[in-house]
Amino acid sequence: MQTVHIGTSHPYDVLIGEGLLPQAGVQLREVVAPCQAAIVTDATVDTLYGEAVERSLREAGYAAFRCVFPAGERHKRWNTLGEILESLARRPLTRSDIVVALGGGVPGDVAGFAAAVYARGIRFIQIPTTLLAAVDSSVGGKTAVDLEAGKNLAGAFHQPALVLSDCAVIRALPPALLSDGAAEIIKYGVLTDPELFEWMCRPDWTQRIGEIIARSVSIKRDLVEADEYDNGVRQLLNLGHTFGHAIEKCSDFTLSHGQGVAVGMAIAAGAAGQREVCRAILDANRNCNLPLSIPYAPEQLAAAALSDKKRKGDRINLVLPDAIGHCHLESIEVTELPDAFRRGMSMVEALL
Ligand code: GLY
Repeated sequence: MQTVHIGTSHPYDVLIGEGLLPQAGVQLREVVAPCQAAIVTDATVDTLYGEAVERSLREAGYAAFRCVFPAGERHKRWNTLGEILESLARRPLTRSDIVVALGGGVPGDVAGFAAAVYARGIRFIQIPTTLLAAVDSSVGGKTAVDLEAGKNLAGAFHQPALVLSDCAVIRALPPALLSDGAAEIIKYGVLTDPELFEWMCRPDWTQRIGEIIARSVSIKRDLVEADEYDNGVRQLLNLGHTFGHAIEKCSDFTLSHGQGVAVGMAIAAGAAGQREVCRAILDANRNCNLPLSIPYAPEQLAAAALSDKKRKGDRINLVLPDAIGHCHLESIEVTELPDAFRRGMSMVEALL
């Protein structure tokens, strides 16, 4: 088992290893004494893992119960949050109790937000069951629901008390979900780690899943510790995301977050005029079964990007690669976005 310690205002450990999910109770007892534990998850994950987590918590002395909502990004909304809060209040959970966020990015974000606001904030832990959640959303304390105007527009910073990433669970994922998480790992490679990037260009990358998760979480740790509230260097984690969110939106969310980010990173390298970086990102995307291009016009994508919450008035921060392993933030006028999309997309097209 590997441990990555996150030294934020409320510090915690991320444990990465085989078989951690069915040991959740024993691991949790190391950080929180037995209490009531609300396992918040979606219906798909509940079918797969709800019972195992509840049993493990009960055996370790927790009064565990499950709070299940329908699966899918369209349920990451106020009404789901409200139902979860009402169900916590019915028990009632008190401030010494705990929420267990079990699942991918959606359960993690909604359950974390419920824990952030219930009784003005109670402790929670994350048990990510997707690769994307293991390497990104379960770490760093961002919690949220979506609004009509955009994704993650209402939320809170609330750090978990523990993150348990079970490599056996991740390895059992269907290929599409592994690819989705691979996009965020490629991102960490482009940001700071050429060796990690190179691993993602090999067909056998899933063989070293534990090492890859630990490496990714350590890179995120460094940026989150330096800028917990996302006012500076943490924004580097948005590499590919302004372009990627626009792609997701134009596809009416038929393209996944990872697919959007994968193409978005190649466009970012193209917009920066970095031909070799763009080529390398396309190679990594191809190796991980991620898409290489998208059928939308630059103007359509730029319009979709305008509702991005990363926008600050008339400006938006883009993350632009300089090399594999180095990127910088650049503030541009939103009126320059169509041109950035045009430059980026024409370089991608030229390399395909
Ligand atoms: N997912 C980007 C961040 O946590 O800042």
